[in-house]
Amino acid sequence: MKVCVIGTGYVGLVTGVCLSEIGNRVLCVDNDDRKVSQLRGGKVHIYEEGLEELLAKNLESGNLSFTDDISAAIRESEIIFICVGTPPLPSGKPDLSAIDEVAREIGKSLNGYKIILNKSTVPIGTAKRIKKIINENTNPENEGFDFDIVSNPEFLKEGEAVKDAFFPERIVIGSGSQKAIDIMKKLYRPIIEQDFEYAKNNSHRKEKVPVVITDSVSSEFIKYASNAFLATKISFINEIANVCERLGANILDVTYGMGLDARIGPRFMQAGIGWGGSCFPKDVRALSYTAEEYGSPAGILNAVIQVNNQQRFKVIQKAMDFLGIIDDKIIGVLGLSFKPNTNDTREAPSITIINKFLELGAEVRVYDPVIKDYPEGLDPGAIMAVDPYGALERADLMVLVTEWDEFISLDFERLKNIMSGPNIIDGRNVLDREKLQEIGFNYSGIGTGTGTGTGS
Ligand code: UGA
Repeated sequence: MKVCVIGTGYVGLVTGVCLSEIGNRVLCVDNDDRKVSQLRGGKVHIYEEGLEELLAKNLESGNLSFTDDISAAIRESEIIFICVGTPPLPSGKPDLSAIDEVAREIGKSLNGYKIILNKSTVPIGTAKRIKKIINENTNPENEGFDFDIVSNPEFLKEGEAVKDAFFPERIVIGSGSQKAIDIMKKLYRPIIEQDFEYAKNNSHRKEKVPVVITDSVSSEFIKYASNAFLATKISFINEIANVCERLGANILDVTYGMGLDARIGPRFMQAGIGWGGSCFPKDVRALSYTAEEYGSPAGILNAVIQVNNQQRFKVIQKAMDFLGIIDDKIIGVLGLSFKPNTNDTREAPSITIINKFLELGAEVRVYDPVIKDYPEGLDPGAIMAVDPYGALERADLMVLVTEWDEFISLDFERLKNIMSGPNIIDGRNVLDREKLQEIGFNYSGIGTGTGTGTGS
């Protein structure tokens, strides 16, 4: 099928590349011409496993191409994916100006029946708003050309985006048009049936992917409610971890014991310094805003946000417990990205933590396996180290903020010799406490208390 994907951010680029891999002719559009020429040259601006290889392969086969001409791309395509950003405004309400602009362009360029598909996470009711804007902008000579709006939310996780796009747990299609639903099922058929080339012999391959057919409002809701629920699960377990710490229980054992109950499950139960990224913070705030706006205030969601905002400061408190006065101490921070296997630092706990240590007068050295430049919001007083050992030389304290694999297998004997103070705060509960204590480190996890901590 002829598909165009508007916006080449995380969602747009992964969607475009993966749709081309399953045999569609995909035209990806971005108004940033520098980005377009980089992508045409096969260079990916985000760190996502497997994406660059698939991009190169489909550029070469001609299934995938890039342009900054939105109007031509719309005219050439049967299905138009809207994948532009919806960043939060200061009130928490998402900024829809990019979506509105795309809808106006679609209205002006309509030249036949098209499916307009929204993949961006948008406020509930946006499908109707897009329809209205397209209708208002349709050229008189184009009138009569029909279109349908579909809400098709994306559930991919950064760092696992290609896997999630090819092997999703569900596909949600929200539309009032049976014709559009049938075309969407046809587009996604290889993924639903899991019978495309890339899936063969892939360990993530599923039997079949369930499809949820619903109206557009419910579809938009599925996305928000899913992210809000996952964020709630994490804030809940972090709150429990904080109480465990007071009582000397071990959160790893507690979550293991809880997770064996199939109604609870073991996933998204990893206690730590809280959630960040471009999705949970934005989406939980947006849902809370909508709930308030429609007269049904979201008490739980507001508490989920509050617990998360406080959680990252646990690290500061623990540092004070280890070091007393922070002024003039050397602190080595491992990890900048909001989670491993991505170079995204949006709403990353690392930035708040590092800035606070600097404010308290510490010398802070930072190492991240993929982030080498100062991310937005990071105090330039932080020193970027070239490797973890450089970050920790003469340090009084190590703080693990992001659980990159590389940090789990560090040479801790060597670190013990080069650090000034044998103190480790494990903000993600991934290090081997017993081993570190044997080497002579003082170890503090999040809610790992004094229990056995076998948690397996
Ligand atoms: C999240 C959702 O998981 C995706 O399903 C969704 O499509 C995406 O948002 C989106 O809306 O676009 P993502 O933000 O990439 O994906 O990252 P996650 O892997 O969900 O992690 C989010 C945050 O939760 C990270 O800061 C991570 O460190 C934290 N987390 C996750 C925990 O603290 N504990 C856990 O057990 C799991």
